[in-house]
Order: sequence, then C-alpha cells, then structure tokens
Amino acid sequence: MIHVKKAFVIGHPIKHSRSPLIHGTWLAAHGIAGSYEAIDVAPAELTQFVERIRAGEFAGGNVTIPHKEAVFGLADSVDPLARTIGAVNTLVREGDGRIHGFNTDYMGFLGNLDQNAPGWSNGLERAIVLGAGGASRAILVALRERGIKEVVLLNRTVDKAGALAREIAGPFIPGPLADYARYAPTAGLVVNTTSIGMHDSRFEDLDLSLLPRTALVTDIVYVPLVTPLLADARALGLKTVDGLGMLLHQAVPGFEAWFGVRPAVTPELRAKVEATL
Ligand code: ATR
Repeated sequence: MIHVKKAFVIGHPIKHSRSPLIHGTWLAAHGIAGSYEAIDVAPAELTQFVERIRAGEFAGGNVTIPHKEAVFGLADSVDPLARTIGAVNTLVREGDGRIHGFNTDYMGFLGNLDQNAPGWSNGLERAIVLGAGGASRAILVALRERGIKEVVLLNRTVDKAGALAREIAGPFIPGPLADYARYAPTAGLVVNTTSIGMHDSRFEDLDLSLLPRTALVTDIVYVPLVTPLLADARALGLKTVDGLGMLLHQAVPGFEAWFGVRPAVTPELRAKVEATL
C-alpha cells in the first residue's frame, strides 16, 4: 500500500488561504502521492486537532490566525526564533510522534529578496523598517539573522518601536516615522511592514527621493501587488520587490519538512497565485 502523506493548513476562518494552491502545485510538480488541505479548526477544537497529528494522521502543516500563538502550548518543542517572532506557523510531526513548531516567515522574507534582488544584503550597512506590529517581528529577526549592521525601526507609535527593539534584541535603532528623512540618504533597504498600502493608502511625508539610487524598496503587503509605496519607488527608478514572493517562499521549508523535497518558487507558481489576488 502506498503511504500517502497528509499535510494541512488550519485556521478559523480558512477558506481564503492560498496555501492549498501553493502546496498542491508542488505536490503535482513532484509527482508526490500526498495531500494538503485547508481545515477549519475553531479555537475550542485545536487541542483535539493536535492529538490527530500526534496520532500520525498528518505529517504536519501550517497554522494561521487565530492559532499561531495557542500552538506554543500544544507543540512538544518550539524553535527559539519562532518564540522571538511570537508565532508558530508550521508544525512537523517527528518520527517519534513529537510535534515541533517553527516559524518560516523570516525565511520567506529572505528567500523573496534573495530570489528577486540577488546580493541585496552584501555590504548592506543600514536598513529602514517601517512598522512595529506583529508582522515587523519576523522581518527584524530576518535582518538580524542576515547580519545587517544597523536596522532603523520606525513606527507611528514610537514606544512600540522601542519595546520591540529591546525585546527582539539586535542592531536596532527605534524612532518615530519622522526620523525617516535623517536616515534615508544612507539606507540601502526600506521595508514596509505596516498595513499602509492596503486599500490604496499611502505614507504621508515619506520622500523616497532621499534614498540612494541603489536602494531597494520592499513591501510585505501583497494586495495590491504594487502598493503606492512600490509604485512611487519604481517611478524614481529604485529597485523594488513585492510581497507576494514572501508568501510563496515561506511555504518552502514546510513542504520540504513534510514531503522531503525542497520545492522551487517558479514564475508559473507565482502567476497561479497572482491570478487569485
Ligand atoms: P500586523 O500584525 O499586520 O503588523 P499590527 O500589529 O496591528 O498588524 O501593526 C500594524 C502596524 O502598522 C503598526 O506598526 C502600526 O503602527 P502603530 O503601532 O503606531 O499602530 C502601523 N500602522 C497602521 N496604520 C497606520 C497609519 N495610518 N499610519 C502609520 N502607521 C500605521
């Protein structure tokens, strides 16, 4: 009998998840007899679902809102970087039935830039990160792990930037958004982690022309794909990387852990997912 490995994404609600499309495309491309399904799991059912993984029904899967914090208490081990990020988005059932949790968002961020702006971190002295909310945490971990010398962390609520800089611990310089103009002329990278950019919202007073002409601008918002920030950067001739690649690349380590093959983020996969935005 062929043993079909099963994986999942759990959330509540879950029907808009693009993960089944991403993993389904990879399963087909590699001819793997496996499955990846979206399962709606309400908070009250989470413990019971984790028991199903432990019992061997699944090789593992992804975890999304609202379960990314609750699984800390249910997994048997959690990667230290997932602890720092404050969220587990991937679970793997190990051979002995123990469940290990980790977070692949910071790898997704790095994989996206490595693919679309090769060499971006070589000699990068200063990056500016806009936003100090939940999504900022994985970006700060990514830049710290990559050894970026200085990361200026700017947020509307400056106290939140200070608290996050202390908590994540790295070469972070917290400040208000108004500090942007001071740091921009020497910044090689600008990352937007705020929700600005959705619904055509844009930053007031963020003058991209202050950046060096070699600077890279990236956004983790991917709906719309080209946010006003990225459009403005492109109009100035700056390099840009959109946020869709982060979604695709964060899926890579999970697939590899469950199915034993490292999948590629191809233009075809990107086009398929882009068509659903
Ligand atoms: P997420 O988990 O997506 O990061 P979040 O934790 O609510 O969401 O954080 C949203 C981020 O966007 C925060 O950095 C927030 O700034 P504050 O900490 O000052 O709230 C930022 N943000 C949202 N709307 C903004 C706006 N209109 N102007 C400036 N920053 C904004």
